[in-house]
Amino acid sequence: MRDEVMKVRVPATSANLGAGFDALGMALSLYNVFTVTALRPRGEFRSDIIGEGAKEMSDVSANLVIKSYAEACEKWGVDGPGFDLLSNNAIPLCRGLGSSAGAVVAGVMIANALNEIKASESDLLRMMTQMEGHPDNVAPCCLGGMTVSCWDGSELRYVRLPSLPSDMHVVVAVPNVRVYTTDARQALPSVVEFDDAVFNLGRAALLTAAWATGKWDLLSWGMDDRLHQQYRAKLFPGGEVIMDRVRSIPGCLGVAISGSGPSVLAMVRGKPRRVAETMCRTFTEHGVDSLFFVLAGNADGARLETNL
Ligand code: HSE
Repeated sequence: MRDEVMKVRVPATSANLGAGFDALGMALSLYNVFTVTALRPRGEFRSDIIGEGAKEMSDVSANLVIKSYAEACEKWGVDGPGFDLLSNNAIPLCRGLGSSAGAVVAGVMIANALNEIKASESDLLRMMTQMEGHPDNVAPCCLGGMTVSCWDGSELRYVRLPSLPSDMHVVVAVPNVRVYTTDARQALPSVVEFDDAVFNLGRAALLTAAWATGKWDLLSWGMDDRLHQQYRAKLFPGGEVIMDRVRSIPGCLGVAISGSGPSVLAMVRGKPRRVAETMCRTFTEHGVDSLFFVLAGNADGARLETNL
């Protein structure tokens, strides 16, 4: 880490996992790395981006790591220094893979370390959730693995569950279209049927219990959902057919829209190739290019290394 002040590596995350809207999420083995390369006087920042967002995110004042850093300093009442930030981004933007949560997590962790705040894990997570608006990306991003979190607007409670076994793969297909979380939230109804609420309650509880006890054959039930995916599937090409097609492939244990979409995530035991090919072929049939990742579901949470 020569010539570096500090470096934070944050994982991609997939929120909801179907039934667990705004509560469940998991870390994935795909990372953005943010490096503070030099310190500057307060309020002075420079940003350099490699990879995802390099062309479009040149405006320093809109950089979410820097904005989150500045907001954290303000909340803690410290005059933190400015800095030069090098972002090496592998997580696709606006695809439901937690890139904005990762930026918030990194900004708050840099503020905590640079200003020697020594905030507790739960205080950091509460601040990150306040900034992000919901906990289901920031919690797994910080803690790694799969997390259950509940947020009431000011207080947060969370549990990290055991990681997926190493023979399970997480296949994520990423279409070349963007869906903004604000739009995906606006697509949801303001009132839901009692039956649908009960349906999701049972599924989310089953998913959590199945995950905690390793009963992976229950994931297909546990990841089913009636609260949000049917509305969001209309927001991207192929969304309304892709999950049914993938669900029936042998070895596919469960499938869901990743976060607010448009990426689609499948849990696969055994060879992931057929699931990945089916997902990408479905997007192609609907006129949109896509790429896929075969990821591990036992990724570590955010990690900070410092030379201070
Ligand atoms: N739970 C949030 C949603 C996650 O589905 O809107 C957004 O990344």
